[in-house]
Amino acid sequence: MRAVMLVGGFGTRLRPLTITTPKPMLPIVNVPLLELELLHLKDYGVDEVILSTGYLPDVFDEYFGDGSRLGIRLIHITEQEPLGTCGAVKNVEKFLGDDPVIVCNGDILTDLDISALVSYHNEKKATVTITLTPVEDPTAYGLVPLEPDGRIKEFVEKPSWDQVVTNLINAGTYVIDPEVFKQVPPGQNYSFERELFPRLLKQGVPMYGFPSDCYWLDLGTPAKYLKAHHDIMERKIEIPLRGNEISEMVFCGEGVKIDKTARINPPCVLGDRVRIASHASVGSLCCLGNDVVVEEGANIEGSVILDRAKIGKDCIIESAIVGKNTVLGPRVHVAEVAVLGDNIVAEEDNEFRHGIRVWPSTRIEAGKIRFYRTG
Ligand code: GTP
Repeated sequence: MRAVMLVGGFGTRLRPLTITTPKPMLPIVNVPLLELELLHLKDYGVDEVILSTGYLPDVFDEYFGDGSRLGIRLIHITEQEPLGTCGAVKNVEKFLGDDPVIVCNGDILTDLDISALVSYHNEKKATVTITLTPVEDPTAYGLVPLEPDGRIKEFVEKPSWDQVVTNLINAGTYVIDPEVFKQVPPGQNYSFERELFPRLLKQGVPMYGFPSDCYWLDLGTPAKYLKAHHDIMERKIEIPLRGNEISEMVFCGEGVKIDKTARINPPCVLGDRVRIASHASVGSLCCLGNDVVVEEGANIEGSVILDRAKIGKDCIIESAIVGKNTVLGPRVHVAEVAVLGDNIVAEEDNEFRHGIRVWPSTRIEAGKIRFYRTG
C-alpha cells in the first residue's frame, strides 16, 4: 500500500528547534519522529511512501535516502513554494496510482490501527475517510460531526462553545481515492481542511469519519514536544526505547558513564556516550541525546536535552528543552517549557523560564537573564 507523508511545513510554533531541523525530523526519545511514523506505516503493510518536502528538504534525503535502511520505498518530492496540505498531494498526483492512498500529516505521534482505518474505508465504499480523535477543548480545532452511519455531516471550523456538537476533530490521517485530486488546481496553495473537504461534501461525495480512541498527539508546540516524551516514557503509547534497560525504565545507549554518586530516576532515556558526573541527578521523565554531558551537581527533570549539549555544574533544568551542541555554564536554570535552540552558549547564572525561546547560536554572558516575579 502507498502513503503520502506531508513534511513540508515550517514548524513555526516549534521554533527555535525547527530553525535548524524540520519538525518531523526532531528526535522523539532519540529517534526522528518521521522514522517512528514510517515504521508505524510499515507495520501495517505500507511499502511505499511519497515524502512531500518543502522546508529544509536535504535533511530528509540525507537521513533516509531511498528508505532501504527502513525497508520501505521512499520517493522525495520537494515543492518550491508551500502548496498547503492538499496542494502538496496534488503535486505528487502522478505517483499515486488508482487505489486509495493514505495521507498523513507528518507531525503526529499515534498508534492508530491503519488496517482498521483502511477496512472501514473499503466497507463504507467511501471516497474520503478522515480519522477523528476526541479532544477535551474542541474550540481550537475543526470539528467533524457525523451521521449515525459514520457519514460526515459537516465541518465546523474553530467553533464557539454553543456550536460544539461533538468532541471529534480531524486527526490528520486520511484514506483518499486519488480520483478527487482531478478537481484540485495544480501548482496552487490548497487546503484539505478549508477547501477540498468542504467542497466534496457539498458535491455529495461519500465522506466518512473514522473515530478512534488511539493515542494521538500533534507535535505542534514545545509543550507537546515534551508531552510526547513523557507519554512514551510513561508507556501511554508503545514506542520501543533504544539502549539497554539497566534498571526498570532506565534505558542507556552504548558507552554511557554515570558516576556512582549520581542519581538516575526512572523513567529515563540516555543516548550513546552520555556522561553524568558526581552528585548530578537526572530524571524522572528525562531524555538525553547522544554525547550529552551533565556536570557535577546538575539536576535535570522532565526535560529533553538534545545531542552533544553540555549541562554545567549545579544547573537546574526542569520541564525544558535544550538544543544540540548548546553549552550551559554553572548554575544556569532552565524551566517552565523554556526552549534553548542549537549551538547556544549561556554562561553561568542565567535563568530561562516562562516559555522563553532563545534562538540558535546566541551567546549570553554571565548573569544577563533573570526573571523576577511580580505579585
Ligand atoms: P506551524 O508552522 O507551527 O503551524 O507548523 P507546520 O506548518 O509545519 O505544520 P502544520 O501543523 O500546519 O501542518 C501539518 C503537517 O503538514 C506538517 O507535517 C507539515 O510539515 C505539513 N505541511 C503543512 N503545510 C505544508 C505544505 O505547504 N506543503 C507540504 N508538503 N507539507 C505541509
